[in-house]
Amino acid sequence: MNDLQQGTVYLVGAGPGDPDLLTVKAQRLLSQCGALIYDSLVPVEVLDLVAGSCERHFVGKRRGHHSVPQAKTNAVLLEMARRHDCVVRLKGGDPFLFGRGAEEAAYLYRHGVPVEVVPGVTAGIAVPAYSGIPVTHRLAGSSVTFVTGHEGVDKQRVGVNWKALATASDGLVIYMGLHNLRHIVAELIHGGLDGSTPSAVIQQGTVIGQRLLKVPLSQLVEKVETMGFTAPSIIMIGVAVNFQVEACSPPLAHVTMPISF
Ligand SMILES: C[S@@+](CC[C@H](N)C(=O)[O-])C[C@H]1O[C@@H](n2cnc3c(N)ncnc32)[C@H](O)[C@@H]1O
Repeated sequence: MNDLQQGTVYLVGAGPGDPDLLTVKAQRLLSQCGALIYDSLVPVEVLDLVAGSCERHFVGKRRGHHSVPQAKTNAVLLEMARRHDCVVRLKGGDPFLFGRGAEEAAYLYRHGVPVEVVPGVTAGIAVPAYSGIPVTHRLAGSSVTFVTGHEGVDKQRVGVNWKALATASDGLVIYMGLHNLRHIVAELIHGGLDGSTPSAVIQQGTVIGQRLLKVPLSQLVEKVETMGFTAPSIIMIGVAVNFQVEACSPPLAHVTMPISF
């Protein structure tokens, strides 16, 4: 590559943990890339798919430390695109769902770097599925909402109207919801959601160590606290939880995975 050329940055979804949930395209790009920039929640077994010569940069959050600032991640992406033909920016789940993928894509585009997105299997669907829980069911209504419980911290996001969601959506799939759970549940019940509504929390889904709690909404906060659930966890609220088919749960993957961030 000469000085004027820029490599392509692929924004790749790594899926929720089980390496078998990588897409064929993701696996191909990982085997070809000259540089890999990755986050927390990507298991070592996925990182090991890159060549020994591949330059690796971790830009996620380590236990007890702050995340790498976005400006620094952007700088690393630009630098890697200048040095390599094929750069993989690997993110947990899907890069365009609560993953800042679009922000990074826009930044790269503004700086003249070719960028492509490679969608991934999102935790909000795969994690319940690995417990046999469908996110929709014909007998559980017609809508589901993917929502983050981690609001407002960076003041970049409008707060979620939980009271409105209580009646507007038949099912809720909540990412990053543990920290605010007490507030979320109080608002949902205040907004008209019945305390008997089925709910589930799944920690560290798809990999060994996966834990599941199923409980009526009114008991959710207390049980989550007494059982010590931690991130990463998906919270599901809605009648679809009752349509769990345990028999269809795939075996969990053996991986070395950061379970907290
Ligand atoms: C920053 S969001 C990234 C979501 C990701 N882009 C996706 O599409 O799955 C991180 C959150 O995803 C959820 N998550 C990701 N992997 C998970 C897993 N293996 N088990 C449970 N929840 C997971 C948790 O709610 C976690 O806090």
